[in-house]
Amino acid sequence: MKKIVIAIDGHSSCGKSTMAKQLAREVGYIYVDSGAMYRAVTLYAQRHHLFLPDDSVDAEGLHREMPNIRVNFRLDPATNLPLTYLGEECVEEAIRSIEVSRQVSPVAALPFVREAMTQLQQQMGETKGIVMDGRDIGTAVFPDAELKIFVTASAEVRARRRYDELQAKGMPASYDDILRNVQERDYIDTHRALNPLRQADDALVLDNSHLTREEQSQWLLERFHEAVQ
Ligand code: DC
Repeated sequence: MKKIVIAIDGHSSCGKSTMAKQLAREVGYIYVDSGAMYRAVTLYAQRHHLFLPDDSVDAEGLHREMPNIRVNFRLDPATNLPLTYLGEECVEEAIRSIEVSRQVSPVAALPFVREAMTQLQQQMGETKGIVMDGRDIGTAVFPDAELKIFVTASAEVRARRRYDELQAKGMPASYDDILRNVQERDYIDTHRALNPLRQADDALVLDNSHLTREEQSQWLLERFHEAVQ
């Protein structure tokens, strides 16, 4: 069976990574969470005081630091899933905080950050057999991907899911704050100048507001088998 690249794009918190991980496991592909890479850069910027008091990014300072920001993935031997690292440190949990979620969009809008992450992502896809999720995977990173999925769900459904996720991990969260964050990120992600979130012309749309996990995974597997034929 030929190996393909699967690009999964869509709004934040619509379950892209859960579905991408599951699909990768089912078909034996590598899973890459491209959002985690932008989150890791944001965490680095926070730790190095590269946010100004008005919450904007010190772009010049971050640009200077880029050679020192070594985002990489290592397989978790227990789950066989990639964990996000900043240099030698596993930051998988730290990058999921509401603080990182709040400040990641302006970082992801910086051209030099996108360029560096896109290059890393393209290297990871060179040998195919990869499922990557994000915002611009089917449009900018892998415009020739054999299978492109564009996922969406209502902002309320997405905020509820993220709230439940944080609660389950015992992390403090407010539903209203999360909803506001989801809406703000939708706006920034779809309006930024460089590679905004948009549906690729050849992407298949999946609105999962009212789908069960099983229905969704069945649908994805069918699309996968059509694409590899
Ligand atoms: O999917 P996520 O919520 O972890 O993504 C974090 C942020 O990174 C979000 O604001 C959008 C941005 N992002 C991006 O600009 N391009 C990608 N390919 C993936 C994420």
